[in-house]
Amino acid sequence: VTRRPLGDTGLRVPRVILGCGSFGGIGSARAHWGGGSEQADAFRLMDAAHELGIDCFDTADAYGGGLSERFIGQWLRTKGSSARDRILMATKVGQPVGSGPKDRGLSRAHLMSQLEASLRNLGVDCVDMYLIHHPDPRTPLEETLSALDEAVRAGKVRHVGACNIRASLMTKALRLSATHGWPRFAWAQNAYNLIQREDEREFLALVADQRLGYTPHSPLAGGWLTGKYAPGAAYPEHSRMGQRPDLYRQFVDDSLHARLGALAEYAEQRGCSMGALAIAWLLSHPDVTAPIVGPRRVEHLDIVAEALSLRISDDERRTIGDLMTDEDRRQR
Ligand SMILES: NC(=O)c1ccc[n+]([C@@H]2O[C@H](COP(=O)([O-])OP(=O)(O)OC[C@H]3O[C@@H](n4cnc5c(N)ncnc54)[C@H](OP(=O)(O)O)[C@@H]3O)[C@@H](O)[C@H]2O)c1
Repeated sequence: VTRRPLGDTGLRVPRVILGCGSFGGIGSARAHWGGGSEQADAFRLMDAAHELGIDCFDTADAYGGGLSERFIGQWLRTKGSSARDRILMATKVGQPVGSGPKDRGLSRAHLMSQLEASLRNLGVDCVDMYLIHHPDPRTPLEETLSALDEAVRAGKVRHVGACNIRASLMTKALRLSATHGWPRFAWAQNAYNLIQREDEREFLALVADQRLGYTPHSPLAGGWLTGKYAPGAAYPEHSRMGQRPDLYRQFVDDSLHARLGALAEYAEQRGCSMGALAIAWLLSHPDVTAPIVGPRRVEHLDIVAEALSLRISDDERRTIGDLMTDEDRRQR
């Protein structure tokens, strides 16, 4: 696996990052805490990813109610102390970790106590990459950025980034950091894939202009881009759509299956799997540092390895992008 610089952090991350959002849950949703991949399956996934050369893991304090971080910490312990220096760790703060009003968000108090919990769970003194999981409109951005500054100065965090953020708020945050001498959000982790293309409107231009890193999550749109969901068929009970359909309602419409059909045909003609093509499409984008993949099973890493071996030209990237562009967007 080749590597890319992550914005101006000085870190070089592998071209694909292992998402650990399904360890002990399905993302941050409380209803699924204790579900998702059990510890033994999570260990097998980390082993297999590591063997492929993927030595950067993405998690969050809220994934599986803390189980995801704990599984990673336990896996690291089985690998010996040098593993902690070799694996780059990204974790996040902000999504609800309990039912109380203070169990969420980006206030200084919550951020500091969650950071301590993350360090304990992961079994490390310092986390390489620390992200805000979602903007928090109830906390002034100044309070969050100065708390992150404190965490960096205390040697508990090396670099900071932001998830699910729009261009206007990122611009404001970068300006505040420059004014106050606080660490800036050096990369962003938004949803970006062949179906969810919001970031093409403004955000990717900001990434290029500000030389930010960009590590998009959900490269397969929750599995839709593998072609696993047939029109009219019920969603399998243990699939992502069977468990958290709420995440994908916004883009499941009448035109989706037709566009996915066109993509499947294109992949077949090209002699590759549709899922690999979707990940390779992201890898070919000049502004994408590294997509965060979310395998549920070790076999799911096959398409990741396949994607890493595909070469997609700029022209081909545009052609594939057009196949998946719906009529509404084309007319905008
Ligand atoms: N910052 C954020 O707000 C945020 C949000 C979402 C995700 N993330 C991060 O990004 C990571 C990836 O996100 P994601 O899970 O949404 O990624 P994704 O790749 O879009 O979806 C993953 C799902 O796709 C299916 N899948 C994967 N490989 C497959 C294959 N080869 N064949 C068939 N199905 C396959 C699996 O579904 P089944 O479960 O149905 O088998 C899997 O659960 C997460 O683990 C997390 O670390 C961050």
